[in-house]
This record gives sequence, C-alpha cells and structure tokens, in this order.
Amino acid sequence: MSDVMHVHGGAPLTGAITVRGAKNFVSKAMVASLLGEGPSELRNVPGIRDVEIVRDLLELHGVRVDRDDRAGVLRLDPTDVESAHVADIDAHAGSSRIPILFCGPLLHRLGEAFIPDLGGCRIGDRPINFHLDILRQFGAVVDKRENGIHITAPRRLQGTKIALPYPSVGATEQLLLTAVRAEGLTELAGAAIEPEIMDLINVLQKMGAIISVDTDRVIRIEGVDRLEGYRHTSLPDRIEAASWASAALATGGDIDVLGARQPEMTAFLNTFRKVGGGFEVHDDGIRFFHPGHELSSIVLETDVHPGFMTDWQQPLVVALTQATGLSIVHETVYENRFGFTDALRGMGATIQVYRECLGGHPCRFGQRNFYHSAVISGPTPLIAADIEVPDLRGGFSHLIAALAAKGTSRVAGIGLIDRGYENFTDKLAALGADFDRD
Ligand code: EPU
Repeated sequence: MSDVMHVHGGAPLTGAITVRGAKNFVSKAMVASLLGEGPSELRNVPGIRDVEIVRDLLELHGVRVDRDDRAGVLRLDPTDVESAHVADIDAHAGSSRIPILFCGPLLHRLGEAFIPDLGGCRIGDRPINFHLDILRQFGAVVDKRENGIHITAPRRLQGTKIALPYPSVGATEQLLLTAVRAEGLTELAGAAIEPEIMDLINVLQKMGAIISVDTDRVIRIEGVDRLEGYRHTSLPDRIEAASWASAALATGGDIDVLGARQPEMTAFLNTFRKVGGGFEVHDDGIRFFHPGHELSSIVLETDVHPGFMTDWQQPLVVALTQATGLSIVHETVYENRFGFTDALRGMGATIQVYRECLGGHPCRFGQRNFYHSAVISGPTPLIAADIEVPDLRGGFSHLIAALAAKGTSRVAGIGLIDRGYENFTDKLAALGADFDRD
C-alpha cells in the first residue's frame, strides 16, 4: 500500500468503529510468553505493525507463533526458545524498543540476551539507563559492544530492592519480567502503575507469579522457579480510543468507539468534558461527539497514570485549535513531544512552544533547552497542506488535522500510523472520511 494519503477534509467524522487490544500491553504480554514452560494464548490482539514486529522477534528466538487475525487470537509456544543473532534482531526490530524487554526472560531461559541499538518514536532521547541499571541489580553483566549490548547472567538472577528515579513504564515492565523468576524477593519503589502494567501483572499472576501492588507505587514480587503459559484477553487500547475521540471533536463529528472502557480513561474523559466535548458511556463502548457549540480552552498537564497520558496529548491539541481562547499544555513525560505542532502551524493553527514549565508544576524539563510547553490560541480554521508524518501519535494528529481542514492535504509517511492504529483507513472510510491511499 502507498505511503501517501490524499485527504479531502472539512467534513465531520460520524459513525461507529471498534478498538481492540492495547498496543502497549499486547506487545509486552507476547514477551511474557517467553517465561512460560507451556504455550500461551492471547486474545483481542489488534492487527498492527508493532504486533508483527514482536511476532518476528519471538520467532527469531524459536517461539512458535500461530495467529488468527480475524479473531484476534495469538498462540505462542516457547518450548524451543533459542538465542538469535544480533544482526537478525536488529533487522527485525525496525524502530521498536521492544527488544530491551526480552532481556529478563532470555536471561532466565538462556543465560544471555542481545539488544541492538534501539529506536522507537522520535519524541525525545528515550534512553535505556533505567533498564540496564535494573538488570545489573539482579546480577546481570552488561557489556556494551559496537553493534549493541550483550547481557549475561553468570548465575541465577537474584531478587533485589530498587527505587526508580521516575515511574517509567518500560522500566517497571523490565523489572516485572525479570523479578518473577529471580531468586527471592524483589521490591520496586516509584513504579509506574498504568493500566497496561496492571494487565501485565494479571498475565504474570495467571502464569504462576506472586506480585502485590501497594497504593504508594511499591510493587513486591516473590520469585518462583517455574511459570506456566497463560490465556488472557487484552484490555482495550485507550490511546486509540482517545485518538478517535479527539478526531470527533476536531472535525465536529460523532464517533461511537466500540470496545472503549471508562475505567482506564477517567483522566481523558474529565479533560474532554472540560473542553466541552460530549460523551456517553454505554455497555459496548463510549460515544464521543462535538456539542454543536463553542469549545472551551483549557490548561492541561500530561503525567504518568493516573494523570493525563502523554499519548493523548497530540490528538487533543488538534481539537484545541478549534477551542475558543488560550489553551496551555505542559508535557512532562517526554522532553520533545511538540515537534508535530510545526505542521499544524503550517495549516493555520496558532501554537507557540516554550521552554518554561507553563500552567502546571515545575517538571524535569524546566530551565533546560526543551520546548515542552505549548500555548494554543483558537479557534483557527485549518487549511489543507502537504505534511510528513513525524511519529505514531503525531502522525495520527496530522491526519486528524487534515480531516478537519478544508481542501486536499497530502500526508506522506502514513505507514508509520499502521504501527499502532489497526485498519485505520477502513475505519476512516466507515466514518465517512474522503481520502485516497493508493
Ligand atoms: N526514561 C529514562 N530512562 C529509561 C527509560 C525511560 O530516562 O531507561 C524516561 C524517558 O526518556 C521518558 C520517561 O522516562 O522521558 C518515560 O518513559 P517510559 O519508560 O515510561 O516510556 P516507554 O516505556 O519507553 C511507553 C509506551 C509509550 C508511552 C510511554 C508513557 C510502549 C511500547 N511505549 O514507553 O507509548 O508514551 O510508555 O506512557 O509501551 C506510543 O504508544 O506512541 C508510545 C510512545
């Protein structure tokens, strides 16, 4: 399929679409299957590029993967796990950061793991220092080489006590995937507690792990000698759900997001309501709609759970260009997540980015060279433009802007959006969008 889409915008998106499992959970649950003695089965799996990448990486390591795309079921059999060549891992990982999470399970099974130089969306430096520190604390030896990092476990990994300097999602997952089979007790203070992490804990518990989560971000794990396979249905993708909600608001539309659930989206729903967006929670999903009157500007700060997710920020900013007055958005999770606003400015939006921590609490990025606060003045009509997709969420935001803008926009690099939005062109067609993707 072509990497370029021509979008004829200016009409509201209306109709119903379905979201399936969460990209940022499914990929980790797939890695967790490496820890089991027997096969696992994961349901509600979306057909996205990131799932294909993890499937390829698992297959490289000897895991048998059977997939029923239509039903969204993956069967993962880790009976014959083996080492893979670093060059192959590198070739298959693409721009994914997932290989880092293979380390704990592979160290337990094989005593060694390789990580190529990692990618991921270009939304900041995205270091892996927390991950390597965690692995070292369990007793792993980390050896940086020219083509990546070689990690070995000279003996069984040992439970340990760790405090994270920041509640990193990936580092918390690293710790969980490593501690469950380490010897003895592990305690993590300052853990991330995102719903996707809680669902990973559900999976690990089904496999035989002993994990408790306290209310003060402390997670305790009692290591066990053996884990079994699991059967599990993924929680829905709350980032995709919120992206469609913002698309409804920005285009003046009405989208019923089937599969979306309220509990994981409380912070988003509160903000959506403050902007003036309407929503209705029903048994099968959440319907999001433009109220038909002026939208209100807001002051917003992104944060770790239970705060407003950083991944919700970019699509919502597009809707904020249609709100009356000045909105202030302070991004505190990534230092560089406003790059996508350049294209919005080119489409007529009035957005200014600042180094200062505006409108919220001082964060790690204040008084440094990071443009991590944005002021959006609206409403401004958006006009069609030629745009290049910068990253997954920024790319979907550009698409929303093109759909809201009058005229025909050319959006290049659209393939990046396939990484995290299942069948998004079919869904756009179902919502009445007018576009061509050859
Ligand atoms: N950080 C470090 N050192 C580390 C790890 C993280 O300094 O070793 C910093 C990061 O630079 C960042 C902050 O900690 O400033 C938070 O990063 P985190 O580790 O929480 O993010 P992640 O695990 O790399 C996942 C999602 C992201 C999502 C974040 C926050 C996956 C595959 N990715 O990333 O999703 O934004 O958590 O919720 O789960 C996306 O889906 O588009 C996406 C980027």
